[in-house]
Amino acid sequence: LNPPPSSHQMEGLSAANCRAKGGSPGFKVAILGAAGGIGQPLAMLMKMNPLVSVLHLYDVANTPGVTADISHMDTGAVVRGFLGPQQLEDALTGMDLVIIPAGVPRKPGMTRDDLFNINAGIVKTLCEGIAKCCPKAIVNIISNPVNSTVPIAAEVFKMAGTFDPRRLLGVTMLDVVRANTFVAEVLGLDPREVDVPVVGGHAGVTILPLLSQIKPPCSFTPAETEHLTSRIQNGGTEVVEAKAGAGSATLSMAYAAVKFADACLHGLRGDAAIIQCAFVSSQVTELPFFASKVRLGRSGVEEIFPLGPLNEYERTGLEKAKKELATSIQKGVGFVKK
Ligand code: NAD
Ligand code: LMR
Repeated sequence: LNPPPSSHQMEGLSAANCRAKGGSPGFKVAILGAAGGIGQPLAMLMKMNPLVSVLHLYDVANTPGVTADISHMDTGAVVRGFLGPQQLEDALTGMDLVIIPAGVPRKPGMTRDDLFNINAGIVKTLCEGIAKCCPKAIVNIISNPVNSTVPIAAEVFKMAGTFDPRRLLGVTMLDVVRANTFVAEVLGLDPREVDVPVVGGHAGVTILPLLSQIKPPCSFTPAETEHLTSRIQNGGTEVVEAKAGAGSATLSMAYAAVKFADACLHGLRGDAAIIQCAFVSSQVTELPFFASKVRLGRSGVEEIFPLGPLNEYERTGLEKAKKELATSIQKGVGFVKK
């Protein structure tokens, strides 16, 4: 799978020496599900990230082609491909960050929970590999239903004795990306200037945008709040329906995943004040997992911020979110324990 060593000589240096000189110091990142709709653009964008020195692409299909293609990009990261379960351990060994977009996506009419039966087992197996081969890696889980797959990962790591709650993060970044975009549209602002905290989880009513806390500060009419909250909660379904059976969000998700992975890498590097929303092991509510703003550092999640003051609309939304989240979390935990 890996490109053969080049026989070209450049000014007396072997290709390997050239790579050693030009290769950027940085982090080792694996993408599991790298040949999929999210995996491919995610792999391309991670190959462009100057913080990445080694990029491992793992999937159960099509990694040779994706790896050959991406490896021709003249950026610093060295790309290696891994195909099938027998190569999973090699794909994971030595990794600093593992991103998991492996699994089936929704079709119109499905909920994210309808993906549980297939994706739960996929995430469980991949996390068993992580526990064995790179137990200290930061893990970003994208595979749906995130509200259950993150608890599944936690249980696998607990059973292996490797669980570190700071290193396991469910990726809810796409909800924030959508919220920023939709709010900016309504306000007539540049989305890059808007920051909407989105808390709770990643499915329907568990996606709770805190419009009362947006930056720049701004107030909305009840009708605007209702419209924006509903659009943010149903952003995934909007894409699923538009794709009409050909999958769910892939390009915006790859963008969001890279934004989030980049924040994790900046945290690992020791940069200050790296703050993003994520679905993590948490004591912000009575639930064992919850998405809220977290500060990322060398150990992963170094601080979890409280929700802050909520208005009446958000307090009602929070109660609905917690009810559904409790069921989804329990379903994930039960899957591993049974
Ligand atoms: P896809 O079907 O295009 O790609 C999934 C890839 O996973 C495929 O290449 C497939 O071969 C691979 N795969 C399947 N089983 C595997 C295994 N055991 N090990 C490794 N790889 C395996 O799907 P997609 O559009 O890329 O979506 C992937 C997942 O991401 C879905 O579950 C989807 O619901 C989820 N998703 C999450 C978010 C989010 O915000 N967290 C956003 C969009 C999609
Ligand atoms: C999304 O929010 O786009 C993803 O969770 C995919 C989906 O099924 O909606």
